[in-house]
Amino acid sequence: MPFSFLCRAVWCVVLVASASAQTAAPLPASIPTQIPGQNAILMGTAWYPEQWPESRWEEDLRMMESADVKVVRIAEFAWSRMEPSEGHYDFAWLERAINLAGKHHIVSVLGTPTATPPAWLTRKYPDTLRVEPGSQRVTHGNRAHASASSPRYREFCRRIAEEMAMRFGHNPNVVGWQIDNEYGYALMSYDEGTHRQFQDWLQAKYKTLDSLNEHWTTAYWSQTYDNWEEIPIPIGGHNPGLMLDWKHFVTYTWTSYQQNQIDVIRKHAEPRQFITGNFMGFFDGFDHYIITEPLSFASWDDYVGSGHVDPAYNGLAHDLTRGFKRQNFWVMETQPGAVNWSSLNNFLNRGEARAMAWQAIGHGADDVNYWQWRSALNGQEEIHGVLVGPDGTPVPFLDEVSQTAHEFAKVESSFRDTAPLSQVALLYSYDSHWAIQFQKHTEKYDDIGLLKSYYRALRQISQSVDVVSAYAPLDGYKLVAAPSLEVLPKALADHLLEYVSHGGHLVLGPRSGMKDEFNALLPQRQPGYLADALGARVEQYYALEKDVPLSGTWGMGEASIWAEQLATKASGGEVLLKYGKSNGWLDDQPAVVTRAYGKGRITYIGAALDDKLMAAAAEWMTQKSGVTAVFGPLPDGVEVSRRVGPGKQVFVMINYAQETRRVNLPRSMKLVLGDRQGDAVELPPYGVAVGVAGGK
Ligand code: GLA
Repeated sequence: MPFSFLCRAVWCVVLVASASAQTAAPLPASIPTQIPGQNAILMGTAWYPEQWPESRWEEDLRMMESADVKVVRIAEFAWSRMEPSEGHYDFAWLERAINLAGKHHIVSVLGTPTATPPAWLTRKYPDTLRVEPGSQRVTHGNRAHASASSPRYREFCRRIAEEMAMRFGHNPNVVGWQIDNEYGYALMSYDEGTHRQFQDWLQAKYKTLDSLNEHWTTAYWSQTYDNWEEIPIPIGGHNPGLMLDWKHFVTYTWTSYQQNQIDVIRKHAEPRQFITGNFMGFFDGFDHYIITEPLSFASWDDYVGSGHVDPAYNGLAHDLTRGFKRQNFWVMETQPGAVNWSSLNNFLNRGEARAMAWQAIGHGADDVNYWQWRSALNGQEEIHGVLVGPDGTPVPFLDEVSQTAHEFAKVESSFRDTAPLSQVALLYSYDSHWAIQFQKHTEKYDDIGLLKSYYRALRQISQSVDVVSAYAPLDGYKLVAAPSLEVLPKALADHLLEYVSHGGHLVLGPRSGMKDEFNALLPQRQPGYLADALGARVEQYYALEKDVPLSGTWGMGEASIWAEQLATKASGGEVLLKYGKSNGWLDDQPAVVTRAYGKGRITYIGAALDDKLMAAAAEWMTQKSGVTAVFGPLPDGVEVSRRVGPGKQVFVMINYAQETRRVNLPRSMKLVLGDRQGDAVELPPYGVAVGVAGGK
């Protein structure tokens, strides 16, 4: 039965779920990230020909070709070269660069340059520059200095994007487009025009001030609004309803900013050219489920910064990006050894970047691009990592990139038409994340950290976890867990209950079901509209000063940071964990309750569990839900990912431990990097193996 819902604001999206048996999420019908005529998995780099004499291009492209670099992302900061003065466009140089790359079997992704408006534009039209909170207008010379909400700026963006699309929309060497660069990297503009747009947006959403006043409970602290013009932009702490609506307005602003360019590109470009944006993992400036909706697929920029890759966090960020549109994605940028913007710009260890590139592929990326090819001789990023030094010759790191790119080229066909396939989903919600950030209650509450603890434990068992919007179709999953679903309006509760009634197992974590879509408290106790199905409710929640003992079916351990005192209210509820001696209130009270409902089950975990208890919880959840391992037990430090396609499964195995690990394969398979059949592999530190087996 189709399920539709109206999401959180006037610019809602409608998702449709089909009710199928509780098996596994269906494979995507098509893989838009794989370009017809190109390898199924690609390696690329950001290339800035505008920074170099044309006589140098051939040599750069020759080096790229011999390294098996197949993609360049190009032009995203080159506005002043493409439109040197207002209305005068020069694309001849770019066309020559793109076509020369094509001769070297390198395709181009064109970035629209709207993160870097030229100096003539901002001088002549200073109203296009962003205004910071406190009314300071930013100056020219950095990037992201324009206002995404300025109608005049949008007009310039539309024109340059349209001119580019007219010129390159049919170029066979151009495979797709990236809109702008990392939107939201800078703040919104806080100018008067934007303020009015926000008030108009609120009026369109609420229609009447009575409705707004009621949903925001403005009777509190005399906040009642009698005129739309009285409503402020929230800066710092404010009414939680106003703060959440500001986030929705920011999402709306960037989505319409993006759409302005999509419209003109789609008008002129061949449909085969994709349109994407490069997002930033858990960056939370806007709701990514909404902004990625009109894109062909999502991409992200995967940087470690200081230190070394945390495979669980990085894998989670890949899976978050895959979940934006529930399909494969690209890594539009990744770290060429070191960056320049962190507190300590250490270099990744030898082999670590190769492991990261393969991790991306395992999690569903079909392209990995290094940022950047060669250092610009001046500019803010002079000493960022690169593949080619300022002298134009390779840095040692290029060896590792070439090795990985040669491997991609060698085994690419194994990945054709494949995508990860999971039995387990974790639900993520920007509204809940924001609501928690606005009122953390304990500064230690980290909803992403909690998501990661569920992810790590569940992935360890199942080797594949999807991270999807709470509103996504769920019927394909055997197990769905929502670690901090604080904002849980009625429509969402109905959606989740339908999943449970059909036989699914829903696990809710702490803080779930506390608020409605206006960030107002529900007039029920947690988990709100799901309390009846659970047959239990939260009596009281506690921000913890120190750890609290827990014991029960999952063994013994501790809760930290947050604990909720549960009480069963209906028959059939089973208490799985209880608190031990603590603050008096929690002593001997239920911490985890589970209950059968419809054909399925609903479980509530009211505390943040330690790693050992989390592992036991994951074991119980997966067993109870019939989740099976796709690979089998793994030695410590080894990550396995699986992609599935017609009649085949491809396993990417990576050893992040600092010693060699032996991995026993669940069955004999072809190890395609080493061209041999085997039933076990020895992986050195950062070692990678790719195994191909038939069937599902
Ligand atoms: C971001 C940007 C790039 C570059 C890199 C440097 O991801 O998109 O233009 O500045 O950071 O790490």
